[in-house]
Amino acid sequence: MDGNGRWAKKRNLPRSAGHKKGAETLQEIVKGASEMGIKYMTVYAFSTENWKRDEEEVNYLMDLLRQYLKNELKEINKQGGKILFIGERNMLANDIVTQMENIEKQTAGNDKFTFIVALSYGSRAEIISGVKKISSLVANGDMSISDIDEKSFSSALYTYGIPDPDLVIRTSGEQRISNYLLWQIAYSELFFTKTLWPDFTVAELKEIVDDFNSRERRYGKV
Ligand code: FPP
Repeated sequence: MDGNGRWAKKRNLPRSAGHKKGAETLQEIVKGASEMGIKYMTVYAFSTENWKRDEEEVNYLMDLLRQYLKNELKEINKQGGKILFIGERNMLANDIVTQMENIEKQTAGNDKFTFIVALSYGSRAEIISGVKKISSLVANGDMSISDIDEKSFSSALYTYGIPDPDLVIRTSGEQRISNYLLWQIAYSELFFTKTLWPDFTVAELKEIVDDFNSRERRYGKV
């Protein structure tokens, strides 16, 4: 969800105004995606690198997050969706972690679609944490080296149980992955749009999904 800052700058508004509009866009997109029948949607809401932004911006984003989660819980529950979080929870404030745990518990029984929020997330950190999990299982004699394969390694990641993404969309014109789901997107289709996140619409999402449906995926085969 890139481009909130530039959206605000173009309007001579503070960056926070871009994030606020971005949160509204997110609400629309989650609703639209579930109505389109998308079963899993993951959004990159806050990266481990985002902690390096000005304290004022980080605080604003955390307050927005508190508010967003409160509103979205009701909305997603109503729509029959499940919410999960991936990322480094120990870096987030205690009240936010408690809110996240409550949301996961309260929506655990819903099965219409799954909405995953990457928060304080970095893919390299996730991979390192997976390596540590597997290493301690092996060190304790609970796993043998020959059992380490793609399937068991995937199970050691935060995304355990979540299918790999079919499609990744990055807004705002940047053509980078920026430490996002590096392991999981090995065979994903990538889509870059110049639209800034606050301007992204369900109509554009539909166009991108149509484009995705016309692509031929070979997974290395001929
Ligand atoms: C990247 O745009 C966006 C973020 C770092 C935050 C994304 C947050 C939202 C969409 C709001 C909903 C999420 C929460 C946490 C409530 P940028 O700020 O890097 O934009 P720029 O590249 O134009 O400066």
